[in-house]
Amino acid sequence: MSYIKETEEYLKNVLKDCGYEIDNVVLESSQRRDLGEFQINCAMNLAKQYGKNPRKIAQDIVDHLDDRFVDINIAGPGFINVKVNEKNLVNKMNESINDFDKLIDKCEPKTIVIDYGGANAAKALHVGHMRSANIGESLKRLAVVLGNKVIGDVHLGDLGRQSGMVISEIKKRKPDLCYFDPNYKGEYPKLEITPEELADYYPTASAAAKEDENRLEEVRQITAWVDEGKEPYLSMWKDIVEVSKNEIKKTYDFLNCNFELWEGEMSSLNYVDDTLKILKPFMYESEGAQVIDVAKEDDKIEIPPLIVIKNDGATIYATRDLATIYSRMKNNNPDEIWYVVDARQGMYFEQVFRASYKSKLVPENVNLAHYYFGTMNGKDGKPFKTRDGGVLQLNDLLSMIREELSKKMDKYEDGSEKEEILDKLTVATVKFADLLPFRTTDYIFDIEKFSSFEGKTGPYILYTMVRINSILEKTNINNIKIDKICSETQRSIYIKLLELSRTLEKSYNEKTLSYICDYLFEVCSLFNKFYGECNIVNEKDESIKNNYISMLHLIYNTCTKLLDILAIKVPNKM
Ligand code: ARG
Repeated sequence: MSYIKETEEYLKNVLKDCGYEIDNVVLESSQRRDLGEFQINCAMNLAKQYGKNPRKIAQDIVDHLDDRFVDINIAGPGFINVKVNEKNLVNKMNESINDFDKLIDKCEPKTIVIDYGGANAAKALHVGHMRSANIGESLKRLAVVLGNKVIGDVHLGDLGRQSGMVISEIKKRKPDLCYFDPNYKGEYPKLEITPEELADYYPTASAAAKEDENRLEEVRQITAWVDEGKEPYLSMWKDIVEVSKNEIKKTYDFLNCNFELWEGEMSSLNYVDDTLKILKPFMYESEGAQVIDVAKEDDKIEIPPLIVIKNDGATIYATRDLATIYSRMKNNNPDEIWYVVDARQGMYFEQVFRASYKSKLVPENVNLAHYYFGTMNGKDGKPFKTRDGGVLQLNDLLSMIREELSKKMDKYEDGSEKEEILDKLTVATVKFADLLPFRTTDYIFDIEKFSSFEGKTGPYILYTMVRINSILEKTNINNIKIDKICSETQRSIYIKLLELSRTLEKSYNEKTLSYICDYLFEVCSLFNKFYGECNIVNEKDESIKNNYISMLHLIYNTCTKLLDILAIKVPNKM
């Protein structure tokens, strides 16, 4: 349990002893470090509740406090400022060196399914998919650290126009393949297609279909056949999806995004019949389609009915999301399902969630939530594009960052070591930049700024970590123990570490990683300040040096855990 929580529990008892009933007392971090490190602000509320003078109440509380605080003072109308007793601070730090859980608070454990990633088969991952992957993965890791059971599902977009596009392109280039021979009687072989061919086929077909109405009709026809399960098209498409999945997985692996489930729109089809049985009583016909009304009386904006089945009887994106919800309830029985998906799908998810609750596909006590994110823009403030105005592929963005970073790495000889460092730096650069802005805000992607070794950047954090690591490698102490505080900066670092629990709690409540990024930057800055002030390696006094090194272990271990939440790996050297 964290220091803050322990202390709040203690304070609740103190207030009871003083004769006050209160649900919770908050130990706030002080903004005025000259007055104290923490502040207890409940006297004002109690004064209202009990009709007493707040300063008198504050004094009463202070009189009941034990020696865990020092330099206690009452400011203004009744703010109680306190500093942490050195012995308590040192003990807390010491027990946290190898035990991260001593710095944080677990939450009431839940089962959560997180739907993130959302790549589309046969199409390249583009920059728009990156935030979902990064934010989703990190929210998942944060939820796990806080004690939840979490299942991440990529929800692959493996049905749709892409199937028709790719297969029609194969037909055009290799018309003699048996799949296209109406008189073929044998068994269809597995379709051979390379990732390179695949990368080329979709954009080529897509451009051709734009120009040519007949081609578009063919694409529609094949897409419909795949959706209806007609052979050999369905099997061909499944073979294509496999190849595509492997490619997609490589990029996700590079970004340290690991999905527990690789389900998708196609696998949800197995649940469509059961789902429709549940939805049936709420569906009605409208212009040939089957829809569900989801508007509510107090809606401020119009929420149109959700189309569940198209007028040609086919399933759509929504049908598959509803079927996926059904399967998740059946297979995972979650308390919550989070969708880390682009803000532009907000209305759509509102409709799907309402239809789910209305039809009791999902009970009221299960929380369906759309945790959307803002757009990553280019320097012109518009969605990031290539020079010729096309959609920027995620792999191309990663290469651009890597190239920028490699300019700064010329002291290294080319080789596997340099490659590994560059990989880790690239991931740190892109992830830190992507997770630092509040989840819902748009931000401008500035490669130069984000790949700098100075400022609030991934490289700065990694550089600091490597610096700590190299000191730890140089100095060998036989007794890792924090038993005193040797400088003001060291004290500030420890107080900062006490505040970690709040940072994680806030991040989790607001579903944003921004607070953790800021926090890491602050800890690293404090450490670098300390590094400038003390010659750690050459410290003559053994017991002081011992304390320094022990603190470095604490910082290193704690920051590694936080970086692990951000899915950023630290190189050993740089
Ligand atoms: N594949 C979709 C897209 O690229 C995102 C999927 C989001 N998840 C979901 N359950 N609908 O827009």
